Amino acid sequence: AAALILAGVLGYLLGSIPFGVVLTRIMGLGDLRKIGSGNIGATNVLRTGNKGAAFATLVLDGGKGAAAVLAARAWAGEDAAQLAGLAAFLGHLFPVWLGFKGGKGVATFLGTLLALAFPVGLAACATWLVTAIVSRISSLSALVAAALAAVWAALLGHGEMVVLILLLAALVFVRHAPNIARLRAGTEPRIGGKK
Ligand code: G3P
Repeated sequence: AAALILAGVLGYLLGSIPFGVVLTRIMGLGDLRKIGSGNIGATNVLRTGNKGAAFATLVLDGGKGAAAVLAARAWAGEDAAQLAGLAAFLGHLFPVWLGFKGGKGVATFLGTLLALAFPVGLAACATWLVTAIVSRISSLSALVAAALAAVWAALLGHGEMVVLILLLAALVFVRHAPNIARLRAGTEPRIGGKK
């Protein structure tokens, strides 16, 4: 039990690092929460016009989820790995450092999946990418990838992940409520657009 609690706490702390906010501030790109959608993720960092910062945010926000899973697995096994992934994801959504007002969890969701089961993560990333190439809309790509991830897990022989994935995907949908409203209204901006 001590190992699980530690995995949860470390996962949360890793996940709660808001790399988008940190990088945009360090690089003098302004206050991310006053730009575009106000979200702290890579898509909104791209609206500063700095592609490098956006890419770094994507990799670091994904990497923190993966790091939490891999560290917990090495120390305490598979249950701890899943718990750490969940905790990292919740840390990104509800970071204590930002008054619990965090992000939408897409990069951390993908990074966590890659570390939990690489083929499932790869399928989810491919789903995001194909939808993004076709639609040029980040939020829509995230919603499609989240909705299908549990299907890929089941098809690829990772039934042990399905419950966790459904929980994460449900939270991704909840966090995209403003995006879903804009998608329905036809006003959701394309990737790289100003918003
Ligand atoms: O990663 C979040 C993305 O799906 C939408 O971001 O800034 O367009 O709300 P944003």
